[in-house]
Amino acid sequence: MRLRNKPWAEEFISSHPEVIIPNPEEYKGNWKQVFGNDNPVHIEVGTGKGQFVTGMALANPDINYIGIELYTSVIVVALEKVIEAQTPPNLRLLKVNGADLAKYFAKGDVSSVYLNFSDPWPKTRHAKRRLTHGGFLNLYESILIDNGEIHFKTDNRGLFEYSLISMSEYGMLLKYVSLDLHVNMPEDNIMTEYEEKFSAKGQPIYRLESQFLSKN
Ligand SMILES: C[S@@+](CC[C@H](N)C(=O)[O-])C[C@H]1O[C@@H](n2cnc3c(N)ncnc32)[C@H](O)[C@@H]1O
Repeated sequence: MRLRNKPWAEEFISSHPEVIIPNPEEYKGNWKQVFGNDNPVHIEVGTGKGQFVTGMALANPDINYIGIELYTSVIVVALEKVIEAQTPPNLRLLKVNGADLAKYFAKGDVSSVYLNFSDPWPKTRHAKRRLTHGGFLNLYESILIDNGEIHFKTDNRGLFEYSLISMSEYGMLLKYVSLDLHVNMPEDNIMTEYEEKFSAKGQPIYRLESQFLSKN
């Protein structure tokens, strides 16, 4: 997702280093310095306008959340949302590429990865760009604790099927799979902006939770 260019965005972002961390590589292996505690860190890759990560941070004060988004024009909307929510102390944003996660996180820094309505990249030649491609799973495993988890929601059936196969071929445990999340919506489900849009149109929301298994 890219939004119309906002000329004021860069300055607004740099005036809020307490939310959008300017030099995240400095905290690799030491995120407790940022949050001031040892609580688990959950990240969302492709956080978009930030409704999910902000809602999760407010609902779960004992978990630290980091929303990661590539585009300035989008993350600035998430920043506004975080400020509106009175800047929860357990929430930060990073304006970086999810493909570079290993620059910012060491093995064991992260407990769970959330992927919500990730870009589907439907062409086979673009499969490597899908955030559930084996290359990305390997990257997530390299920063997650042992037996760390991925939680994934999408409206896109093709991407969901691909992800089930990709995770299964990688040797992950599929702990939970739903082909229509909103039929029996868990009470603690926090909707993303895309989830609201697609479910309002009557489209099913697919969801899975998977876990890396120890290799020894
Ligand atoms: C389709 S939107 C979904 C946004 C939000 N998660 C939701 O469910 O409403 C996907 C978002 O992921 C971001 N994105 C895509 N690839 C990314 C990457 N490699 N690193 C960080 N963000 C990425 C896009 O810029 C976009 O904002």
